[in-house]
Amino acid sequence: MAMNGYRCIACAEAQASEFSGFLCPSCGNNLEITYDYASVATDVAAGFEAGGEGIFRYAAMLPIKNDGSRFPLRIGATPLYVAHRLGDSVRLRNVFLKDDTQNPSASIKDRATAVALRRAIDIGADIVSVASTGNAGSSTACLAAALGLQAIVFVPESAPAAKLAQSLSYGAKVIAVRGNYDDAFDLCLAASDEFGWFNRSTGYNPFTREGKKTCAYEIWESLGGRVPDRVVVPTGDGNLLSGIWKGWRDLRATGLTSRVPKIDCVQSEASAAICDTVRRIREGATAEPDWSSIRMDQVTATTVADSISVDRPRDGLAAVQGVFQSGGEAITLPDDEILAAVPELARTTGIFAEPAAAAPWAAVRRLARDGTINADELIVCIVSGSGLKDIASAQASAGEPLLVDASIDALKRALQ
Ligand SMILES: Cc1ncc(COP(=O)(O)O)c(C=O)c1O
Ligand SMILES: [Zn+2]
Repeated sequence: MAMNGYRCIACAEAQASEFSGFLCPSCGNNLEITYDYASVATDVAAGFEAGGEGIFRYAAMLPIKNDGSRFPLRIGATPLYVAHRLGDSVRLRNVFLKDDTQNPSASIKDRATAVALRRAIDIGADIVSVASTGNAGSSTACLAAALGLQAIVFVPESAPAAKLAQSLSYGAKVIAVRGNYDDAFDLCLAASDEFGWFNRSTGYNPFTREGKKTCAYEIWESLGGRVPDRVVVPTGDGNLLSGIWKGWRDLRATGLTSRVPKIDCVQSEASAAICDTVRRIREGATAEPDWSSIRMDQVTATTVADSISVDRPRDGLAAVQGVFQSGGEAITLPDDEILAAVPELARTTGIFAEPAAAAPWAAVRRLARDGTINADELIVCIVSGSGLKDIASAQASAGEPLLVDASIDALKRALQ
């Protein structure tokens, strides 16, 4: 394992790898896991092959012990599709979709969960807790079931039924909290402290970012070592974005790439804390700010894209850094544009996404129309969760079936 410690994302104070907390003891901000890149350069240059299946092919660059055991489910190794017809619709020639609906629990969260639960096993924990808008919960429930761990999932009471049904079916103890995601997060934190559970909650737990970064490695490999111009990321807590940014920074630090893509942050106008903060910083200055002095904006989130509905992003500062340092866009969209992207993506590409996961395409369409993107840019949209996760939203944008009597005449009338 090349992990050699932690560094605070705000004040940069370092901690040794034996450190057992999740937050910087000096300033309370999130930690980033650090590596001795020189020691893994040969493994990494050999093509990441040695470590196992799916994301565990990258074991040399993951903060887990290599005990030789195989992970019971295939995590990651998802397809990167070129979407010609979708791109053509707004005169873009190189639009790609990273289809992370094809993970065991049908969302990109499985990348983070797999690494966090391997960490839990490495340190001898057998109960894992998580706060979730729904996907991190069903992912934790799924992988905990596969690994023989007990999962305790805190969700807002409004979480979509499919995500709850998934978590319950996998055998998790599901706690529906009267309140929103932020309330569920705070209760999970307090309960995990009280009962000594391993808290996998997004952003707060530094191991989640390390799982999500594997998405960048896969994109790079699928493109044969080319670097996209943009990777477009649906954003709530900001951990997916900060993870994908970390992946490109790792590739650069190990010498595999010299360029990195712009990382575009997509949020709903009704849940835009990270985009708002990026804009506020950019209005103030173009030079890199002193991150320890940055306070995140707070909002009261109301978006229908439940996976990215967050008042207080738990990895917000790291996401702001990713957008700022990569030169990416901060794009906020009205909910109707996000919802409209669900059937558009499905009808043009055959990929059925939940609203949050369709949001990157809605953002690309917007950027193409207003001339921010040029026709030749290589763009990767992260399709982060399946449309089956949120049937109510899909129904609202896809319409109703034709209801007919069981006769050819009735059918003809209906088809007219
Ligand atoms: C499908 C989907 N897309 C995007 C996100 C956003 O990730 P993050 O909250 O790390 O910004 C989530 C988070 O729950 C998600 O479930
Ligand atoms: Zn700090």
